Amino acid sequence: MPKPKSNPFTIVFFFIFSISTLVKVQSVTFSDDIAALLAFKSAVKPTSIPPTSCLATWNFSTDPCSVPRVTHFTCGITCSNNRIVQLTLDSQSYTGTLTPLVSKLTQLINLDIGDNNFYGPIPSSISSLPNLKTLILRVNSFSGQIPSSIAALRSLQTLDLSRNSISGSIPNLKPLELLTRLDLSYNKLSGTVPELPRSLNELAIKANSLSGSLSESEFSGLTRLTVVELSDNSLTGTLNPWFFLLPSLQQVDLANNSLTRVVPADSNAELVALNLSYNKIGGFLPASFGEYPLLRSLALSYNKFRGPIPWQYSKKGSSLQRLFLEGNYLNGSPPAGFISGAAGVTGSLGDNCLQSCPVSSQLCLKSQKPVSICQQAYGGKPKS
Ligand SMILES: *[C@@H]1O[C@H](CO)[C@@H](O)[C@H](O)[C@H]1NC(C)=O
Ligand SMILES: *[C@@H]1O[C@H](CO)[C@@H](O)[C@H](O)[C@H]1NC(C)=O
Ligand SMILES: *[C@@H]1O[C@H](CO)[C@@H](O)[C@H](O)[C@H]1NC(C)=O
Repeated sequence: MPKPKSNPFTIVFFFIFSISTLVKVQSVTFSDDIAALLAFKSAVKPTSIPPTSCLATWNFSTDPCSVPRVTHFTCGITCSNNRIVQLTLDSQSYTGTLTPLVSKLTQLINLDIGDNNFYGPIPSSISSLPNLKTLILRVNSFSGQIPSSIAALRSLQTLDLSRNSISGSIPNLKPLELLTRLDLSYNKLSGTVPELPRSLNELAIKANSLSGSLSESEFSGLTRLTVVELSDNSLTGTLNPWFFLLPSLQQVDLANNSLTRVVPADSNAELVALNLSYNKIGGFLPASFGEYPLLRSLALSYNKFRGPIPWQYSKKGSSLQRLFLEGNYLNGSPPAGFISGAAGVTGSLGDNCLQSCPVSSQLCLKSQKPVSICQQAYGGKPKS
């Protein structure tokens, strides 16, 4: 062999050629699948494969799908009709790249190599896995862009690329019509929130560098969207009523962005928790949040809200239990029920311009802003 290490294609040829000689038992597994598994393992640094790990049992002197699997291929793969349908690795700090030849596993349904140390690009050839339902590459060191070909994975239900170093903008994901769970959190993604598939249940793109405002067109028809986790980005603009009218919305975290306005819908049936803390939202606190029948946790801390706390937040029968309003310019007196504890509300009202927020109340532990700052905020008039 001419120096096989110098050319990846030579290595691949070598492996394909070698299968017939290596596999002594009668081959049951589809040969392309064996070639793909060989290429997969050879792309992982041998020194990162502990003797007790799954990959260590991948010894190609036996056929991957032959039974009984006592010492070889004891874990990491599942076969069905002599095809590999599942590749789910243990978490071992395996270090290496994901071979483009993974695309030969055309019957693959689940691919999960999360919590390891795979690096390099996500091969665009991954798009030729028509049956893939779950793609989990979370907690690795993948870099480069999300290949736009990913939109061709029409069976995909779960896509989790969180906690890698993936950059660039997010491709249009609308064609993934069965996708229910998308997690791209903790990467280096930029650009705007992409077009999203209508099947989506959970959207998480936390801690990236997304910019622009949330637009109705990206979210249109997302009737099953339950969780929105977009905190720690650079989103701007107004959160408009259409957002609060998404019919299944329960948990929303948009904290630590640069939103400047929130205009909630008058009514909302499902919302349980909303976090808009650490934005740049000005204006009065929206009274309608007090009317949302299931809203239990409302965090609006560290914004530029002003004016009084709406009476709706403390009215009898209100569902609000956790209320974080710290670090705004709210004035007037807090509702009596908050201070007496009768409303059963916990949270924080400190660092505002409130009068009579006694430190005896848990809500008022943090002191109010200095009078001078409040006078400045209200144009010299400390009262509303
Ligand atoms: C595979 O297993 C055989 C027999 O158990 C052993 O002799 C051989 O060294 C193993 N090969 C590798 C690459 O571990
Ligand atoms: C806001 O996000 C930035 C960058 O993602 C992060 O460094 C910072 O700790 C976050 N701040 C809060 C209050 O969560
Ligand atoms: C809201 O988000 C901020 C910033 O990420 C976080 O510190 C805070 O704990 C969150 N509040 C609630 C009630 O979840």
